[in-house]
Amino acid sequence: MKKVAVRLPMFKVRNSKIHGRGVFAIRRIRKGTTIMEYLGDRVTHAEADSRYENKHANDNHTFLFTVDSKTVIDGGVRGNEARYINHGCDPNCESTTLQKRIYIEAIRTIVPGEELAYDYQIQRDSDDADDVDQVFACRCGAKSCRGSMLEPAPKRYQLARTSKAKKAKKAFKKSPPRAR
Ligand SMILES: C[S@@+](CC[C@H](N)C(=O)[O-])C[C@H]1O[C@@H](n2cnc3c(N)ncnc32)[C@H](O)[C@@H]1O
Ligand SMILES: [Zn+2]
Repeated sequence: MKKVAVRLPMFKVRNSKIHGRGVFAIRRIRKGTTIMEYLGDRVTHAEADSRYENKHANDNHTFLFTVDSKTVIDGGVRGNEARYINHGCDPNCESTTLQKRIYIEAIRTIVPGEELAYDYQIQRDSDDADDVDQVFACRCGAKSCRGSMLEPAPKRYQLARTSKAKKAKKAFKKSPPRAR
């Protein structure tokens, strides 16, 4: 009888200690493996903002991923498991862009049971509220956790901010990954 090679799925979604649900490896995933594409509705930034405009300013939860200055993927609509991957400051994955599509790739070998994570590097804006780092506080648990899901703040940026109340961040979108 002909033998058919059956590959186990690489991951499953379950509750996470970091936040809500997360994605966990169920078999060994080699460094360099493209694990999945980040899927969902492809919309403009204006549409993405309007979809989340009624959220409370302290609620940072979205499924948005910025592709470029024109397009955002809303993983909450027609999305896949990629929308459940949490942020990590010492991640085992990274997001990459190829022809305006976003892929999640292993940047080291991942063992079964390990939670998948990539660095959201949420972009800072000059009009962010003063408590933006608290709103986007990170609970990844890594030794090197920087305490925030936002990209590291450059010194000049910290100096430029005044103590005046700033408007709350609009719908947060994960920052565009480095293009390949
Ligand atoms: C794309 S969702 C990830 C899936 C999420 N755990 C869920 O169950 O829907 C992104 C949201 O998860 C939360 N999150 C992800 N990583 C986090 C982290 N390291 N620390 C705190 N919250 C995190 C934030 O609320 C963020 O807006
Ligand atoms: Zn962290």
